Amino acid sequence: MNVLLVGGGGREHAIAAAIKKSRHEVLLYTAMSKKNPGIAKLSEDILLVKETNVDRITAYATEHNIELAFIGPEAPLAAGITDKLHTHNIDVFGPTKDAARIEVDKAWTRNFMKKHKIKGCPRFQVFDQTQAVEAHRFIDEIEDVVIKPAGLTGGKGVRVMGDHFNTTEEAKQYTDQVLKKDRVVVEERLIGEEFTLQAFSDGKHLAFTPAVQDHKRAYEGDKGPNTGGMGSYNDATDILPFMNRDDLDSAKEIMQQTIDALNSENMSYKGVLYGQFMLADHPTVIEYNARFGDPEAMNTLPLLQTDIIDVAQHVVAGTLNTLDVTFEEKASVCKYMVPEGYPEHPLKDSEVTITSVDDSLLFYSSVYERDGKIYTTGSRAIAVVGIAEDLRKAEQRAEKAVNSIQGRLYSRHDIGTEQLIQQRIDHMKVLRKG
Ligand code: AMP
Ligand code: GLY
Repeated sequence: MNVLLVGGGGREHAIAAAIKKSRHEVLLYTAMSKKNPGIAKLSEDILLVKETNVDRITAYATEHNIELAFIGPEAPLAAGITDKLHTHNIDVFGPTKDAARIEVDKAWTRNFMKKHKIKGCPRFQVFDQTQAVEAHRFIDEIEDVVIKPAGLTGGKGVRVMGDHFNTTEEAKQYTDQVLKKDRVVVEERLIGEEFTLQAFSDGKHLAFTPAVQDHKRAYEGDKGPNTGGMGSYNDATDILPFMNRDDLDSAKEIMQQTIDALNSENMSYKGVLYGQFMLADHPTVIEYNARFGDPEAMNTLPLLQTDIIDVAQHVVAGTLNTLDVTFEEKASVCKYMVPEGYPEHPLKDSEVTITSVDDSLLFYSSVYERDGKIYTTGSRAIAVVGIAEDLRKAEQRAEKAVNSIQGRLYSRHDIGTEQLIQQRIDHMKVLRKG
């Protein structure tokens, strides 16, 4: 069967690798904005195109008799790629434009959660351009606030009290700035440990993947500016070392309630639902994404034992409840190698050489190839993933792979280490005593 993949980052490299492992005879075609050398190697053919150019990608899909499409990033989902491919009878793993609002419009999502009384929703209010006064009043009331533009900002729009500003005055200033272009969500700041729970969804049934923890800050010890994610880990079971089973069950229940609510409004959500949670006494939803996480997909997909094409076919058919979706019970640690100066002043066009990664996986993200050499673009460049029976070994494998990549790059050596994980556990203990 001919399969289309849209997207060219590390997450999509992991999706491509999972597709190539399928027992189905698959010819893979990929539409991406830059030539990812890893994905190109796995593809029959590639189309270099802006990933939101829905018409061009659809024409490419029909030219190549595509039967099934996997959509990696959120931008094409927001641009309605799923709806367009459906008009050509192409099955899509990725929600329609309507359902993708769960990621694309944070204001809509919070209101939706409230309307359907979905658990795990923090105190919030949404304001538009005409409501600056009310927004300021709400900021004074809550004080410890987070300010979020409603629309997509590539992960750079959210500002948190104590992180990005320290006074309600500054929160108001940023709110006014956002209101010039967009609606704003003002919500209470949540304190706890973050985790990601991703699930395959066929519109009704969810098949959960193991919980993962991402690391947003650029530097070791969770310091420095926010990034797209510097790396992530999962344990050799479905929960993380600082969680208990009830936490996981609550998060699952919240996500199931969300899918049921979408379904009740005739939005059949097909693809991956990504829940980002803050855990204290209970998990609270920070946000939803309408796709796999990057880097989280690189932990999850290599451990998927069920054939991803079977998963996608059951997602499309609405029969995920009849498929046993299983994962290897192994830990994994993913570390991103990023250019010096990332994210603020990243070094571009700098050569990267890879000696050998032995027993680890390597996923290309934002690099390009010229004359057989690999160069950075300025975004996260290459990810390595160590997989083993426990976190300690998985972390060692990832570090070994990091050391086999040369160039003006850096990574967070603390991700997945015993020391950092112990800090998370200790943090949870303190929070739960209070
Ligand atoms: P988002 O773009 O919604 O993922 O937000 C980016 C980051 O802001 C998250 O990873 C959290 O660390 C932080 N954040 C978002 N909402 C909240 C909240 N209500 N309380 C505390 N931190 C938050
Ligand atoms: N790792 C965060 C994201 O994919 O949005």
